[in-house]
Amino acid sequence: MTKTLLRGRILTFHAEPQSPDDTGAFTYLEDGAILIDAGRIEALGDWSDLSHHEAQVIDHRPHLLMPGFIDTHIHFPQVQVIASWGAQLLDWLNNYTFPAEIAFADQNHADTMARAFFDLLTGHGTTTAMAFCSVHTQSVDAYFSEAARRNMAMVGGKVMMDRNAPKGLTDTPQSSYEDTKAMIDKWHGVGRARYAITPRFAITSTRAQLEIAGNLVAEHPGCFVQTHLSENHAEIAFTKELFPEALDYLGVYERYGLLGPKTFLGHAIHLEPREIDLLADTGSRPVFCPTSNLFLGSGLFDDAGLRGRGIANAIATDVGAGTSYSMLQTLNEGYKVLQLQGQALHPFRAFHWITRGNAVAMGMQDEIGTLDAGTSADVVVLDSAATHAMALRMQAAETLAEELFVLMMLGDDRAVVQTYVAGTGQKPGAVA
Ligand code: GUN
Ligand code: ZN
Repeated sequence: MTKTLLRGRILTFHAEPQSPDDTGAFTYLEDGAILIDAGRIEALGDWSDLSHHEAQVIDHRPHLLMPGFIDTHIHFPQVQVIASWGAQLLDWLNNYTFPAEIAFADQNHADTMARAFFDLLTGHGTTTAMAFCSVHTQSVDAYFSEAARRNMAMVGGKVMMDRNAPKGLTDTPQSSYEDTKAMIDKWHGVGRARYAITPRFAITSTRAQLEIAGNLVAEHPGCFVQTHLSENHAEIAFTKELFPEALDYLGVYERYGLLGPKTFLGHAIHLEPREIDLLADTGSRPVFCPTSNLFLGSGLFDDAGLRGRGIANAIATDVGAGTSYSMLQTLNEGYKVLQLQGQALHPFRAFHWITRGNAVAMGMQDEIGTLDAGTSADVVVLDSAATHAMALRMQAAETLAEELFVLMMLGDDRAVVQTYVAGTGQKPGAVA
């Protein structure tokens, strides 16, 4: 197989930037090249140092090449739920989301939606995501089959939910155990796939089911865990009503052994001091979902407060409550959520977050999130002047930081020229 050499401006991070001046946290190459062999990055360097390699050259100048974006919390069966009007969390789930997820019992529907979902992800520059599937194993098969077809490093799992949901969308403790186990055996570690044990949230699981989820976690320590935490006041009140014995919301997951560095907790907005201690002590990962938190009126994620406790926050779209598949637009809204709290998200830290930062949170930085030699060639190619508004603004931009800020405030899928997954361009006919 011939090698590929991508040419363009290149940016990749080595560490989380500690300040706007922390230029040691990244490598930026004005005329750089990425040498790709068999889906992996063989070398990264200046064009002049790599141009002698025998390879198919794809010249992306003047565009900016970065590691593909990573979305750590998204719902695959909500592709037709995104942009549903007027409700906050619990009504939104009951009125829009649960009815839409019932349809994923049908394999054809799940397969069709999986193709659309993966086109949307890569079209927006996302090359890895951690997704909730529906309660049905059909949706898990559809999801991982499509991921395998594209050789994408995807994490996912069937939601376990045995109460407070309509018929057609519930399992039982026993069936959720058997189905989850079957899906782990079938998909976890196959190619680039990884499984996430997925109790949806405390409200939709009985104690018996959460206990079984804890058993699954103990039996499969290599799997991720994903769920939701303290997104909305009515949700928290209902959780406390259902689990009066728990010290707090996070205490429910604690009791059943669901916490740890592989556990991703969507939202984590309204936290009590003990819960923050517990997040820090267990190394669990809160996930900031800004477009969703604004859309559902859920609240403001305290990034600085949690980071100050040494907690590794991830960031994600949370489509379909999230309103964009774009991690750029996620940064845009994230910037504003943090501004409302007197926290400023610098573009260096922002772009680190959606690439290496999320990869580190997932423990996957040896495979994704950077352009280091040996990692997978998952690459996004960005045009900072993709729209008229961006082009005009870019005429007045003088620094890389300014360009990145334009991309995150004004950019979306229109700024994505091409997305490579394991070295293969996902946009047919994209102009190099
Ligand atoms: N909590 C439980 N399920 C969901 C969901 O699908 N979306 C969001 N935003 N929160 C949830
Ligand atoms: Zn969610």
